[in-house]
Amino acid sequence: MSESVSTKGPRLPDGILLEGIVTTLNADGTCHIAPMGPIVDGGFTRLLLRPYSTSTTYQNLKRTGQGVLHVTDDVEMFARAAVGQQTQMPDMIAATAVEGQIIAGACRWYAFHMDSIDDRSERTEIAATVVDQGRMRDFLGFNRAKHAVIEAAILATRLQFMDASAVQSEFERLSVIVEKTGGRQERSAFAFLQSYIHRPTGQIHSIEAVEG
Ligand SMILES: Cc1cc2nc3c(=O)[nH]c(=O)nc-3n(C[C@H](O)[C@H](O)[C@H](O)COP(=O)(O)O)c2cc1C
Repeated sequence: MSESVSTKGPRLPDGILLEGIVTTLNADGTCHIAPMGPIVDGGFTRLLLRPYSTSTTYQNLKRTGQGVLHVTDDVEMFARAAVGQQTQMPDMIAATAVEGQIIAGACRWYAFHMDSIDDRSERTEIAATVVDQGRMRDFLGFNRAKHAVIEAAILATRLQFMDASAVQSEFERLSVIVEKTGGRQERSAFAFLQSYIHRPTGQIHSIEAVEG
């Protein structure tokens, strides 16, 4: 799907912003994974995705018009996918209603078709309809450390727009929460993000997994 349909469309008045993980297909057929915060309606039937025009997710959605949104409590996946550094792709299941891939370890998934795309501004708006969905396991539940890792992952994607000392002091604040309330996964994900923000320039692809 290559044409840009310029519609604002309905803004999902009953919607909430959900921090999820979106899979899309790259031009070579491989799967791309990225955290995204779409607005979803109460019944999870419609989505408003807002990928930046610089993102691979935007390019893939514009080209293919389809993808899969996942709800998951796996914050290590959020952390690594946010900065494009998965050590390995998670296990995947082929979707049937869309050309795409479902992350096998996610809690729930929503396969969607794009209805319209408005890419007049840098933060694009892609309206989509859910065409298939599934539930694989329960969501763990609230955990302050998981939220802290999500915040840290978002910060890690904004390094070029933020003052380094502000990022550092926010990481210090979040590290207290992770130390107090985190388990192995949260500590490992947070340590990975700390390594990422302190990486020597130009060596972002050489970070190894860091166990917490
Ligand atoms: C919780 C979370 C939510 C995010 N939401 C968005 C979003 O709605 N739009 C966006 O462009 N990037 C978002 N990001 C940043 C992208 O995941 C990150 O920049 C990613 O590397 C860019 O996407 P790409 O891999 O498709 O290029 C989010 C990151 C996190 C951790």
